[in-house]
Amino acid sequence: MRGWGAVKQRQAERKQRRHAERHLRTVRRVGSGPIVLGTPIVDGTDVEIGDRFMIWSGHRQTLVSGSGRIRIGDRVFINSGAVVFSEVGVTLGDDVALANEVYIMDTSSHGVEGREPVESPVVIGSGTWVGARAMVMPGVTIGSRVVVAAGAVVTKDVPDDVLVAGNPARVVRPLTYPPYCRRAWHDKYCSCPGTLFGPPMIATLESLPEGSAVD
Ligand SMILES: CC(C)(COP(=O)(O)OP(=O)(O)OC[C@H]1O[C@@H](n2cnc3c(N)ncnc32)[C@H](O)[C@@H]1OP(=O)(O)O)[C@@H](O)C(=O)NCCC(=O)NCCS
Repeated sequence: MRGWGAVKQRQAERKQRRHAERHLRTVRRVGSGPIVLGTPIVDGTDVEIGDRFMIWSGHRQTLVSGSGRIRIGDRVFINSGAVVFSEVGVTLGDDVALANEVYIMDTSSHGVEGREPVESPVVIGSGTWVGARAMVMPGVTIGSRVVVAAGAVVTKDVPDDVLVAGNPARVVRPLTYPPYCRRAWHDKYCSCPGTLFGPPMIATLESLPEGSAVD
């Protein structure tokens, strides 16, 4: 792009960069190219984020908060209204996607019958897609490339490459992906070779060692 169009594009990019910097200013470390749409609250006291982070805050405000250790991998997407609240530790691997109004907590905040509140780290494996309004409860570890169906309440650990659904969430079935695919939401929008945003299938596959994952 040249001329006036290029100037406008550079202005828009600068504006977007400043917007992201403003909303992620309390984050201890942010990788390259974060995109922030709307006005999320990201005020956790120990947050680190990888490259190409996307966070949207539209119909409901998105929140990443608490005094726990929040670690977010590369290419993670957090959609509008999602809440990540940590008092101990929440880890989102690479390529994790949290849909609208997902709730992830590592503390129950209050105890029951005089007991202490449950406080235990949450880990969500790389490539996992957590569907709209699902909840992930304290102490849960979810594997890689898992699909958590909309509205699921995940109370127990989940292995790799499965679909879980329901309250409490149960494994519905195993999932299969091409060996080079990183993400549970594997469709034309995936960045796998041969998809809308991915590199051409043939060139990529020829240059890959067998079983490799590609971005
Ligand atoms: C899970 C999902 C991806 C469907 O995947 P799918 O492979 O097409 O699954 P199917 O429709 O074949 O369902 C498999 C089983 O899980 C059940 N199931 C699917 N979604 C479910 C849900 N959200 N809650 C409870 N059960 C669900 C189905 O009823 C079916 O049960 P059955 O085998 O007893 O008939 C979809 O239901 C879903 O939850 N999508 C989330 C979308 C979203 O949050 N988008 C936000 C934008 S990022």
